[in-house]
Amino acid sequence: MRQPTVIAPSILSANFARLGDDIERVVAAGADWIHFDVMDHHYVPNLTFGPMICEALKPHAGQALMDVHLMVEPVDALVPMFAKAGAGLISFHPEASRHVDRTLALIRDAGCQAGLVLNPATPVHWLDHVMDKLDLVMLMSVNPGFGGQSFIASTLPKLRQVRGRIDAHQRDTGRTVRLEVDGGVKPDNIAVIAQAGADTFVAGSAVFGSTDWAATIAKLRQAALA
Ligand code: DX5
Ligand code: ZN
Repeated sequence: MRQPTVIAPSILSANFARLGDDIERVVAAGADWIHFDVMDHHYVPNLTFGPMICEALKPHAGQALMDVHLMVEPVDALVPMFAKAGAGLISFHPEASRHVDRTLALIRDAGCQAGLVLNPATPVHWLDHVMDKLDLVMLMSVNPGFGGQSFIASTLPKLRQVRGRIDAHQRDTGRTVRLEVDGGVKPDNIAVIAQAGADTFVAGSAVFGSTDWAATIAKLRQAALA
């Protein structure tokens, strides 16, 4: 069973000189979640922001959940810091953690929802023994590190495969798990991405690079439901 559609604009493509204002404006424009891309210039080549910035921005997000995407290695020490900084959901790349099950427990014990992120070439078997500890699976449809890249088409069959696993898990346990897609999501490809099984959509350049954010978010939502 598909969860209600969530549109999560990535502030990686917002104006870094006015992040608080941009978050307020994008929430007013209809954003459900704020996607917060944490990059450490180690796991990925780029460098962005940490828990202090998250904490400063959280009051500007209103009811929108802070969807913290950790592209960092190692992971564990940052988990309690982001939980304290107001993260609602924390996801990480399993190959960046020595002990995936322990990191998931840290996130949940800190009171946050937990997500695992799989890169385009990371196999889905990473989900094998942890589905019961996940609130969300995120599939990268670009290589992590930068906004504004093109959607990698092999994500579509991978989404179908993970959708199948999530549906089977829900049938067996009654637990719901969201399926998020991150990278190159646009109004003109979100319909096929949704049909492949995603219910939660990160959109950075598509939203912040458009002139009318509300119209773009509405277009994304409508196309995702079609
Ligand atoms: C890439 C980030 C994405 C990025 C998406 O490493 O994880 O969240 O901001 O940007 P767009 O939507 O422009 O591809
Ligand atoms: Zn991201």
